[in-house]
Amino acid sequence: MQHDTAHSPINANKALWEKGDFTRLAATMRESGDELVAWIAPQPGMEVLDLGCGDGTTAVPAARRGAHVLGVDIAANLVAAGNARAREEGLTELQFVEGDASALTSIEDARFDLVVSIFGAMFAPRPNDVAAEMVRVCRPGGRIVMGNWIAGDPTLVAQVLKISAAFLPPPPEGFISPVSWGQEDTVLARFGAAGIAPERIRCERASYTFRSPGPARDFLSVFRDYYGPTMNAFEAAEKNGKRRELEDQLEDLFEAQNQGGADMTVIPATYLRVTVER
Ligand SMILES: C[S@@+](CC[C@H](N)C(=O)[O-])C[C@H]1O[C@@H](n2cnc3c(N)ncnc32)[C@H](O)[C@@H]1O
Repeated sequence: MQHDTAHSPINANKALWEKGDFTRLAATMRESGDELVAWIAPQPGMEVLDLGCGDGTTAVPAARRGAHVLGVDIAANLVAAGNARAREEGLTELQFVEGDASALTSIEDARFDLVVSIFGAMFAPRPNDVAAEMVRVCRPGGRIVMGNWIAGDPTLVAQVLKISAAFLPPPPEGFISPVSWGQEDTVLARFGAAGIAPERIRCERASYTFRSPGPARDFLSVFRDYYGPTMNAFEAAEKNGKRRELEDQLEDLFEAQNQGGADMTVIPATYLRVTVER
């Protein structure tokens, strides 16, 4: 599936996620991905959409359980990495394609039993369109599960995004922060506008744990060298002579959050888990 937006040379959303190599970070998130999929418990034969799927941290374990999984992501490199993982594991009912969560133009209404988006659709522009699209492609009686980083949360990813944003030029007018998806009233309003009554939406805090060999500063270098939002912040900080300041703030954060040690970094991060009964 491909869209005009996916081909536009000025699609900043696509460029951000094709920058670097998110698979390097995804590799530190696999255990939590497996645990979350066990919690969601997709059944064999279920039709599952994983939106903003990256290289399949949740799509792969869902397919291992026998679900028929379509992973959709804006980033061509991550789609390719996901398809390579599916091939390596011989998961024939798992396919990754390019697409934009704001406009799932080639997906028919009510196609999926389960729509999952873990730290994925939250990064798409036009969040009301994203909610409407998730609702549209999920069949009545189906389920939508989102994982969203939370604005103002003190744990790792919300803080990385906050610190990074402080070193970047101001966003374009009308930009809506991805972490607004971590606010319960905003989630209710967006799904409400898509026709979902509040009693069908459950929001709860949950935790994802990053595990990376070596000390916290090595894990920080994965963000610095491979994670689009942090890479952009380092580029901007470099231009403004503030690289050291950014590095220091992030180092302090990673050290403070590390519950592992010098040989193994273990950092839990809080997110909002949203379940919508369609
Ligand atoms: C933080 S990563 C999470 C990836 C994956 N869900 C995981 O848990 O590892 C964010 C993902 O959302 C994707 N993404 C961002 N904007 C998107 C959009 N408009 N439509 C589809 N995917 C998008 C990115 O390319 C990236 O793969």
